[in-house]
Amino acid sequence: MSSQLETVIAYHEATKHRFEKYARGPGRMDWATQPEAFRCYAGAPRIQLDIDPPGDDPSYDSVFSCNSEIAVASLDSRSISRLLYDSMALSAWKSADGVSWPLRINPSSGNLHPTECYLVCGAVADLCTSPMICHYAPKEHELEVRVEIPCQIWEKLVKELPDKTILLGFTSIHWRESWKYGERAYRYCQLDVGHALGAVALAAAALGWEAKLLDAPGSDQLGKLLGVDSQAGAEAEVPDCLLAIFPRGAMTGHLSHNFDIVEQFDGLPWQGIPNRLSSSNRDWERIDQVAQASRKPFLYPDYPLWEAPADEVHVTAGSGSFRRIIRQRRSAVAMDGISSMPLVTFYRLLARTVARSAMPPFNLVAWPPVIDLVLFVHRVDGLAPGLYLLLRNRERLEELRKSVDVEFLWQRPASCPEGLDLYLLSATDVGAVAMEISCYQDIAAEGCFSIGMLAEFSRPLENLGPWFYPRLFWECGMIGQVLYLEAEAAGLRGTGIGCFFDDALHGLLGLGGNCYQDLYHFTVGGAVEDKRLATMPAYSMRPK
Ligand SMILES: Cc1cc2nc3c(=O)[nH]c(=O)nc-3n(C[C@H](O)[C@H](O)[C@H](O)COP(=O)(O)O)c2cc1C
Repeated sequence: MSSQLETVIAYHEATKHRFEKYARGPGRMDWATQPEAFRCYAGAPRIQLDIDPPGDDPSYDSVFSCNSEIAVASLDSRSISRLLYDSMALSAWKSADGVSWPLRINPSSGNLHPTECYLVCGAVADLCTSPMICHYAPKEHELEVRVEIPCQIWEKLVKELPDKTILLGFTSIHWRESWKYGERAYRYCQLDVGHALGAVALAAAALGWEAKLLDAPGSDQLGKLLGVDSQAGAEAEVPDCLLAIFPRGAMTGHLSHNFDIVEQFDGLPWQGIPNRLSSSNRDWERIDQVAQASRKPFLYPDYPLWEAPADEVHVTAGSGSFRRIIRQRRSAVAMDGISSMPLVTFYRLLARTVARSAMPPFNLVAWPPVIDLVLFVHRVDGLAPGLYLLLRNRERLEELRKSVDVEFLWQRPASCPEGLDLYLLSATDVGAVAMEISCYQDIAAEGCFSIGMLAEFSRPLENLGPWFYPRLFWECGMIGQVLYLEAEAAGLRGTGIGCFFDDALHGLLGLGGNCYQDLYHFTVGGAVEDKRLATMPAYSMRPK
């Protein structure tokens, strides 16, 4: 095992919450060093983006369709504004007792938002006359122009990509999360990247576009491209990933791209100085170590051959406007313990979490699904309460069967549609155990169901390398994003759960070792509204 892989696995073990001891955190909230809510680049020229209020189109269901009929939007200032407005923008302001705070389309653990977003584009009608790299400023829904790039550099960058491609990059400021959560925060940052990936892939689909992860560039090259490679210290942005976004169906064949051109980026006239987020920072050495060990080298990943099924699972359609649903998405802070979910809605929700070849958001990545869902079913009409497993990659069936508790039933519910690999493992009340495993949070027991996301862990890390570690969480975050939206579409509410006792879930399933690891939890149910909170629109104060 390489020393980097050892570092990653040691980090993972050390940051498990255990019944007897939580992962190492700051102990108490140090309000004096609470990070600023927004990163900005002082001195960078700004471009105001359009606000395009949501209407009825496109319908929520059409965005997930494998044979989407959504018209392909032309690439201009309006469509770029809408892409960001529907994925990374603010969705509302909340206030209580004289304090107000923003919420965003993409959720984040503790609402701390470590994920920063960058647009890299060529000349775009009504937006810019030359190629540029911009930091997205969600507070104002504006672009901060970090640098204009010569046309020949841009052309080389996108030479092998479809016509009308734009690039979106993500970075993370780990300090935002470690300030509150300590050593486990690196995991939460990666889950947040996954949510952001899901949000962008769906917003692109709503414009008739498609998003693909450019998985060859190394972290060094991404850092250079996004202009963050010279940042240092606790508040530095660490490059995560890069997406190509282009008209749906424009890409045929393999994504190959040459990134040597970014070597020339050092000499460009970068503008803007990153703001200081906290007056002082606490170092979390283990986070720096895992971030370093999981940096990606430049390589075309050698993912196992796997083709996502092309057919959609036949489930009853839902209703509603996609753009309204993404804006009303919120996390439930309490569940009512009584609402139940109709069976058809449950199956539709599960079907949306499974990769299909042309269905967003999972068509964004090229690796075979590595996450399966362990379901704690409490209140789904017509389905026995109990512990279930949804396989997201059928190839794991036999191995999982051999790995888990021999007493499990492995019964497919008679009502389960073709194409969904759902199994009842044990028909029993799982309310108390779901709550206990999720750090005693009642929301895991008082919803309709909760989920533990079980990753195939050691094999992909050993076969592909430690750089795959963050990607395990990205897949979980994308699943979480779909669950949030499906819950809203069903008139219910979801909440991501980053706090859980890892090995307690493994123990419940009878799993030992680290072939499989539990990486994220989620709950869906009828929310109890907090009446003390007032809600204000996201950009009502912005000058027109
Ligand atoms: C990765 C992740 C982990 C989270 N973990 C928890 C949790 O353990 N408990 C909880 O009540 N909420 C949790 N949340 C919900 C966040 O606190 C919530 O997303 C955030 O406050 C923003 O609110 P919003 O989702 O309504 O926009 C989590 C969210 C994410 C994305």
